[in-house]
Amino acid sequence: MGKVYVFDHPLIQHKLTHIRDVQTGTKDFRELVDEVATLMAFEITRDLPMEEIDLKTPVSETKGKVLSGKKLAIVPILRAGIGMVDGILKMIPAAKVGHVGLYRDPETLKPIEYYVKLPSDVEERDFILVDPMLATGGSAVEAINSLKKRGAKNIKFLCLVAAPEGVEEIKKEHDDVDIYIAALDEKLNEKGYIVPGLGDAGDRLFGTK
Ligand code: PRP
Ligand code: URA
Repeated sequence: MGKVYVFDHPLIQHKLTHIRDVQTGTKDFRELVDEVATLMAFEITRDLPMEEIDLKTPVSETKGKVLSGKKLAIVPILRAGIGMVDGILKMIPAAKVGHVGLYRDPETLKPIEYYVKLPSDVEERDFILVDPMLATGGSAVEAINSLKKRGAKNIKFLCLVAAPEGVEEIKKEHDDVDIYIAALDEKLNEKGYIVPGLGDAGDRLFGTK
């Protein structure tokens, strides 16, 4: 059964407040999303397996722990997910990066897939699927379908702001997926925007509106 983790770390909450603020411009928005993604990556990598190695310090022989080399892939949902990739790569620079391109039809709010490119060894990798927004959940569910269809078995979903409706939708369709959220908001409005949310994440990241 997938779990839902809401990060209440003060640094994450502080930065998220500024991300939400309508006064925050594109440059600061982008930098803050990048920083929060780094902090969230720190939290979601807590369970990475480790192994012990022998080494010498300048003083003596000793043993130390290192990551056991688990294969990871980060997959942003285009476009807004791109804003979180570099921040995560700062923590796990050896991860491969795939892409799933989806947009929400503004009328039906249903996701439309237009691009998928994943690392070739899908079945051997653990996936971190990223998107700043989880609203109706349609995009995340479709992206998870897309990864699973190609052989992905272990998927975590990472987002900044989620609506309860989106969380329920992932739990209903993919109850094996853990969900990591910086904030669980109140609701969706009649246009499918998260309230209070942060507006259109793609437009605010890329300055397209
Ligand atoms: C936004 C967001 C998610 C999706 C969430 O993308 O980045 O992918 O909406 O909504 P949902 O949970 O109701 O599916 P959008 O469709 O605006 O595309 P964009 O990133 O290209 O702007
Ligand atoms: N997509 C966004 O970018 N923002 C929302 O509030 C909902 C979907």
